[in-house]
Amino acid sequence: MKIASLLPFVAVAAALPVSNSSTQYAAISRADGTKFKIDGITKYYAGTNSYWIPFLTNNDDVDSIMSHLQTSGQRILRIWGFNDVTTIPGSGTVYFQSFSGSTATINTGANGLQRLDAVVKTAEKYRIKLIINFVNYWTAYGGMAAYFSACGVSSNEQWYAASKCQSMYHNYIKTVVGRYRTSTAVFAWELANEPRCRGCHTSVLTDWMKKTSDYIRSLDSDHMIAAGDEGFGLAGDGSYPYQFGEGVDWAANLALPNISFGTFHLYPESWGVSNSFGNGWVTAHANICKQLNKPCLFEEYGVSQAAQHCSVESDWQKTSLGAKDNGMGADLFWQLGETIKSTGQQTHNDGHTIYYGSSDWKCLVDDRIKAIG
Ligand SMILES: *[C@@H]1O[C@H](CO)[C@@H](O)[C@H](O)[C@H]1NC(C)=O
Ligand SMILES: *[C@@H]1O[C@H](CO)[C@@H](O)[C@H](O)[C@H]1NC(C)=O
Repeated sequence: MKIASLLPFVAVAAALPVSNSSTQYAAISRADGTKFKIDGITKYYAGTNSYWIPFLTNNDDVDSIMSHLQTSGQRILRIWGFNDVTTIPGSGTVYFQSFSGSTATINTGANGLQRLDAVVKTAEKYRIKLIINFVNYWTAYGGMAAYFSACGVSSNEQWYAASKCQSMYHNYIKTVVGRYRTSTAVFAWELANEPRCRGCHTSVLTDWMKKTSDYIRSLDSDHMIAAGDEGFGLAGDGSYPYQFGEGVDWAANLALPNISFGTFHLYPESWGVSNSFGNGWVTAHANICKQLNKPCLFEEYGVSQAAQHCSVESDWQKTSLGAKDNGMGADLFWQLGETIKSTGQQTHNDGHTIYYGSSDWKCLVDDRIKAIG
């Protein structure tokens, strides 16, 4: 999702919680044919996205949110593992990496990667599996654009192949992977949020995905690796999302040896297609996953009209679950909504937010988890 606004809340950092010994029963998540195996069980899984949870500064808030996910039966949570800045914010505001002059500096302090540490530790406690994403294509929370001046480029299209940008990006990946290399809370490492390369030959992104996934695999031989893209560029009805103009050749990228599963998103309003377009979109990707024998993760989806959340999105969920023996492994709706315990404030409502405990939550989570079984 392209996120325009920033988080409205900031609180004071507290000490890390003690790790829960139940983690000894957990395992590293894997692909098992076109399904996912989590803690020893291969089946279709459901989950959600919370880009903002690593930016919370109160551990009890993180704990409360993870406990809600666990009691709801959601197992996979996708988060931003990046927060790149070109101006250092005040000490109460979280950021993970800053750029100044021609250098990048990783923030391992209390308002830096220690916040991601707290999310990983809490996920271990509740056996929630995290997809940790390394950089944004969009400019929210910095993105590739935060690197530009320091690594000497002026566009995302240049960023993918510029050696200085890539060495900074690799250094950041190495630091994050190194912190959670053995954690059973890591579901997968993800290259970027919604990488595109407009007007580029598709080989630019394919080469970048190969180099990046091989690099991550050289650091970590266990955890899964995925692209985090929107799913553009594949055979279909010829409408915009199926076209190759954003520089993505979806099947070629999924065929890369160190890419573990396929990702795709669905935002009909942004893409100028109908809501019912979504069902064919899901099965088109599932067919490629089945051919390549890797799972498909329907990683983000949403409509902005609150009145349509349940009706439209539950239809897509049914299509995805219906393809569970034909390529689909899991789906994650965009995005999780919560009332933050320490402040009483609601998390970011971008029109797509499904708040814990709401009637949308009953439809898209509670009823859903029952259907999955
Ligand atoms: C660890 O987790 C289990 C299961 O979620 C729970 O019953 C137990 O109380 C937790 N222990 C600690 C020390 O938090
Ligand atoms: C996957 O990455 C590893 C580590 O970089 C590399 O040695 C290996 O050749 C890659 N796999 C394939 C099949 O290319």
